[in-house]
Amino acid sequence: MIRWEESPGGPVLTLLDQTRLPAEEVRLVCADVPALVRAIQTLAVRGAPLLGIAGAYGVALAAARGRDAEEAATLLERSRPTAVNLAYGVRLAADAWRASAGEGAERAAGAALAAARELHRRDAEASSAMAGHGLALLDELLPGGGGHRILTHCNTGALVSGGEGTAFAVALAAHRAGRLRGLWVDETRPLLQGARLTAYEAARNGLPYTLLTDNAAGSLFTAGEVDAVLIGADRIAADGSVANKVGSYPLAVLAKYHRVPFVVVAPTTTIDPGTADGASIVVEQRPGREVTEPPGALGEGLVVAPPGTRAYNPAFDVTPPELVTAIVTEEGVLSPVTGDGIAALCARSRQV
Ligand code: MRU
Repeated sequence: MIRWEESPGGPVLTLLDQTRLPAEEVRLVCADVPALVRAIQTLAVRGAPLLGIAGAYGVALAAARGRDAEEAATLLERSRPTAVNLAYGVRLAADAWRASAGEGAERAAGAALAAARELHRRDAEASSAMAGHGLALLDELLPGGGGHRILTHCNTGALVSGGEGTAFAVALAAHRAGRLRGLWVDETRPLLQGARLTAYEAARNGLPYTLLTDNAAGSLFTAGEVDAVLIGADRIAADGSVANKVGSYPLAVLAKYHRVPFVVVAPTTTIDPGTADGASIVVEQRPGREVTEPPGALGEGLVVAPPGTRAYNPAFDVTPPELVTAIVTEEGVLSPVTGDGIAALCARSRQV
């Protein structure tokens, strides 16, 4: 979804513009960091793992084009606040650049690019490991041969990953193993990542999927139609609290009430031991226009509220650890989700 390419004017980053999906597959060319920052803020490139990869390549791009890599790192890190992968990727590439800065600009730029490529490769590996661990967990939690009926929220597939994604990669693995009975796809208001992107990925992969409005999920649980909820994460705090796309927390409450497993799938790069708990997670607030003119920021929207209407538009919400059945990372399955468990996971992970 993201590529480093050489052009006559120097290296560029090209990205599949997610604001244009599913209508058109258009690649956006970013020749400098301000263009990449715009792509991040308008969600042309989005989703925690991909933001990390994009941030790392962004530092490499600045360095390769003779720009100030430190300033680029600051701009990129500040472009969106919640997904910790972004800061992680930016720092990884910036540290590599600093470590080689004494050997000349070209070598330092090469070191930043090597770090970005390595993160990209590791994310693909993490994705396939999570798919395997996640499917084994589903089979354990949901014995019986009827196949799994999974509900998911937002978009967590190949569009946001070096590989096949996080939660979506687990659903895909279940499908390939003949054990996915159905994927319920929340539309994900207000920017419709579920309808526009997850449905697009599900259709391309031949998954049996059904789209629903976010507020139809309750009736689906009541009807006994959901065997498990699988979501990704933007930041996991030291106590196991999970920030993910707004609307995830209500699903966790529903899942608890209906005794349905609520499973978070995320690489260890999404764990932030420096954020103590859920209340400490900075939740990005987005323009109200995205709510009053959905899908607002993504082009000309349909006006659904009177002019001047104020809107509450947090991009994420936070689910406390007691509502999370398990966190699946490339290292395996953490269940129950506790601060001690997160600390042990961080201690053995090579990335955190
Ligand atoms: O605002 P977005 O679209 O970047 O939000 C993305 C999500 O909330 C995803 O669920 C999360 O990043 C996990 S992606 C594997």
